[in-house]
Amino acid sequence: MTESAPARVFADRTEACRTLAVGLAELVSSINASGRPAVLGLATGRTPLPFYAELIRLHREGQLSFANVITFNLDEYLGLPGGHPESYRAFMQRELFAHVDIPLGNVHIPDGSVTDIPAHCTAYEKAIRDAGGIDFQLLGIGRTGHIGFNEPGSPRDSRTRQVHLDPITREDAAPSFGGLEHVPTHAISMGCGTILEARKIALLAWGKAKAFIVKEALTGPVTDQVSASFLQNHPDATFYLDAEAGAEL
Ligand code: PGA
Repeated sequence: MTESAPARVFADRTEACRTLAVGLAELVSSINASGRPAVLGLATGRTPLPFYAELIRLHREGQLSFANVITFNLDEYLGLPGGHPESYRAFMQRELFAHVDIPLGNVHIPDGSVTDIPAHCTAYEKAIRDAGGIDFQLLGIGRTGHIGFNEPGSPRDSRTRQVHLDPITREDAAPSFGGLEHVPTHAISMGCGTILEARKIALLAWGKAKAFIVKEALTGPVTDQVSASFLQNHPDATFYLDAEAGAEL
């Protein structure tokens, strides 16, 4: 029997992000109070932007410190020239890290410029394990149902590896790259298995373009054709939705 992950539908994304950000600040502070760093899995894309804005606001108000936080990002494009503004390393710096007190040595993002990709992926998995595993994983969802870049067909037990981007995912990224021909074809992504080992997971989705895939992920069959559906069997995964993304539930 599968149990659907809980969904919390908010009036708008700001309210959803405020609620989640306050909860995350409490989690970080209680983990830090227990004497260890909090380990966060972070996401990129348009979806987490209002959430990162809330984290920055809480940090400025003195309610959230990243001084004892370790982060692991879900994924990175392969083959972008170093410092490309659409690289996820550049994104994270711009949208979150430059505005908070995280020690840069605590930040982990797959490196899309490595030559030995399998060795890099193995080392990424080991770094997560060595940090004690991920306490809280933030996710978006692609129109293909992907979490990270785990496109349809990604096995439930997949680990960090090189992946091929689905045509729909590349199409969705085309505007920010100034045309489909500039969107990378491959990426490095944490696997479904890597993600599902996180102790607590929050998936965010906004807008009507996500309503159908959110419904599939939450109420459809658990299948590798919609990798977010694997969250149905996670003990602590919650969907944070605005009214439009939750409209088909
Ligand atoms: P988006 O992408 O946040 O830009 O919609 C979500 C995702 O692909 O996970």
